[in-house]
Amino acid sequence: MALKYPHLFEPLAIGSVVFRNRIFASPKGYYNVAKDNLPGADEIAFFEREAIGGYASVCIGDCIVDSATGTHYPFLIRMDDSATLPGLSAAADAIKRHGAVASAELSHAGMYARFVKEPDSDVYGPEAAVVAGLNREGKGGGTLYGPVAMPDGKYGEVEEMPEELIYKIIEKYGRAAAWAKRCGFNMVTIHGGHGWLLAQFMSPFVNTRGDMWGGRFENRMRFPLAVVESVRKAVGPSFPIEIRISGSECDDNGYDISEGVKIAKALDGKVDIIHVSAGNHEFDDTFIITHPSIFLPDGVNVKYAAEIKRNVKTLVATVGALTDPDMMEEILRSGQADIVALGRQSLCDPDLPFKARSGREGDINKCMRCCQCFGEAGGHRNLRCAIRPETGREIDEKTYYPPWSKKRVLIAGGGVGGMQAALSAARRGHEVILCEKSDRLGGVLRCESLVPFKRRLEEYLNLQASRIKRAPVEVMLNTEVTRKFAKALRPDAIIASLGARPAVPPLPGIDGKNVTEATRLYVDPGSAGKRIVVLGGGLVGLELAIFMALRGHATTVLELAPELSVDVFGMHRISLSSKIAELGIPVHVSTRALEITEKGVSARGPEGDIFFDADTVVYATGQIPLREECAELHDCAPEFYQIGDCLTPRNIMAATSEAYAVAKDIGRM
Ligand SMILES: Cc1cc2nc3c(=O)[nH]c(=O)nc-3n(C[C@H](O)[C@H](O)[C@H](O)COP(=O)(O)O)c2cc1C
Repeated sequence: MALKYPHLFEPLAIGSVVFRNRIFASPKGYYNVAKDNLPGADEIAFFEREAIGGYASVCIGDCIVDSATGTHYPFLIRMDDSATLPGLSAAADAIKRHGAVASAELSHAGMYARFVKEPDSDVYGPEAAVVAGLNREGKGGGTLYGPVAMPDGKYGEVEEMPEELIYKIIEKYGRAAAWAKRCGFNMVTIHGGHGWLLAQFMSPFVNTRGDMWGGRFENRMRFPLAVVESVRKAVGPSFPIEIRISGSECDDNGYDISEGVKIAKALDGKVDIIHVSAGNHEFDDTFIITHPSIFLPDGVNVKYAAEIKRNVKTLVATVGALTDPDMMEEILRSGQADIVALGRQSLCDPDLPFKARSGREGDINKCMRCCQCFGEAGGHRNLRCAIRPETGREIDEKTYYPPWSKKRVLIAGGGVGGMQAALSAARRGHEVILCEKSDRLGGVLRCESLVPFKRRLEEYLNLQASRIKRAPVEVMLNTEVTRKFAKALRPDAIIASLGARPAVPPLPGIDGKNVTEATRLYVDPGSAGKRIVVLGGGLVGLELAIFMALRGHATTVLELAPELSVDVFGMHRISLSSKIAELGIPVHVSTRALEITEKGVSARGPEGDIFFDADTVVYATGQIPLREECAELHDCAPEFYQIGDCLTPRNIMAATSEAYAVAKDIGRM
């Protein structure tokens, strides 16, 4: 059989280890590890699922080599804690038994280790407070160490790392690698990128130490190379060592690709794989390059790997915004890299390798880079994906049990929630009827199909619609589910996924010809005049403002709250803010619109009363859930469920998660 992607699926042998293909699941920290920092069942099941999907290697991220000085999140795996043995061994076994190579990422956060240990205590900085939900961001009472002293480090005062501690940490990298091997891992990934400790030592900007550990290039590489040597000594010659570096830190205060090439050359031949990422985790502007934002093109960081590959003999991996097997194959075929590593893509489709191998590449969920995964990981310490509700719930999938009886399920509303509910219910064997009032599945989000940075959303909606076509689901378009209709159908269960309608701000002039609502403007952007005022600086308003600015309109945003997009999770908010700044979109917070006229909007804000000239005024001022419409249906079937925006307007993840959950609940009794 001829493989469509021969380069992607060419096996690779390193030392005693065979990789079944060239697609790695890139390191991911799983931040809901138990409070005692031991890997638990959820975490193991998550990484096992990546292995089941066909990745060549699966990497547990952010395993801290010296937990007393190196911890940057409260719940990370401490490689110097022997209590991790059963959990790590179970994780390595779970990954390997499905044919993947199990890697542990060895890391130390250096001057960003804000969860450091209090001297002579078992308490890790503000960890106790974090557990109690009191203080997520503060630094603990222990000392922060970096290559040089900094009175005003990001998380407080940093002390220059004493030589004694440097030697101790070098040794601890070796011990951590040996520990990983002892627990059954068959590769280690040294984290030398993203601004963590090794990168701090490599950096000409940070590491200006005057001794043999800093200053000129050879001195700055002394610590990272000693770490590599210590790890090699610990694991032996035939055990693969991967090192992750930033090819460029992509910032005026960071090193560029020419320095990245020098670093890679210094590592050449001493490790087995140089894994080239980009950016720095701790600066907002580059965090969204390390994890490329929705506004950046696919494969945006491949150029750094390609440049390094031209200069080294060691195998090179590339990472960042890779979702499409055609593109991945071309990267390998053209010799830009030897391996592709996938981060968020493996969350939204762990089966990408198997699908690409077996001719089912058209069925791959492609990451939209909405970064809900980061919102959840950072905010709630869980891994989730907006468009794949099973992610982070692998245990649920494992404990799957069939419903007692097959039910007739009526789903009202064919948006993201309704479509997911139909698929999940059909998969459980129920008889499913999906009704959508318009002539197309996809719901209100279809309105964003013209938005270039929302291309993946449109693809996702099309994919879900095509899955429904193939599934045993009866679809009724142009069909509104009224009370009479629902009763006549005699369903056993109803899932109401009716959505919400836009809230109309009660302003004089809101009925004017020059006023429109966000979803209408998305569909017909050509109807807008040159100057646009957007009322509302939430997710919808900001994305719309960016969309219209990209089309050449002079766009201004007015927001009543003192901050923009409070409804948006952290990383996407950074992406939006930086795009707004790049496009020069004026934004006025704490500003209340008072009246709309033919000429624009009068408003009151911190600068006093202002008139904003506008040809078109668009409101994006929230959504009202269709609760009454739902209530009409609540007694039309023995089982009744509501999901998504018709409960409370939220996001795609809420709709798909609830759809998935209630579809499993049906027929339980
Ligand atoms: C939820 C999540 C957790 C991550 N944790 C780690 C980590 O622990 N260590 C690391 O080196 N990178 C981590 N990353 C970064 C990824 O490995 C990857 O470099 C990045 O997401 C860019 O690739 P992508 O565009 O395919 O997502 C994480 C990414 C995500 C989405």
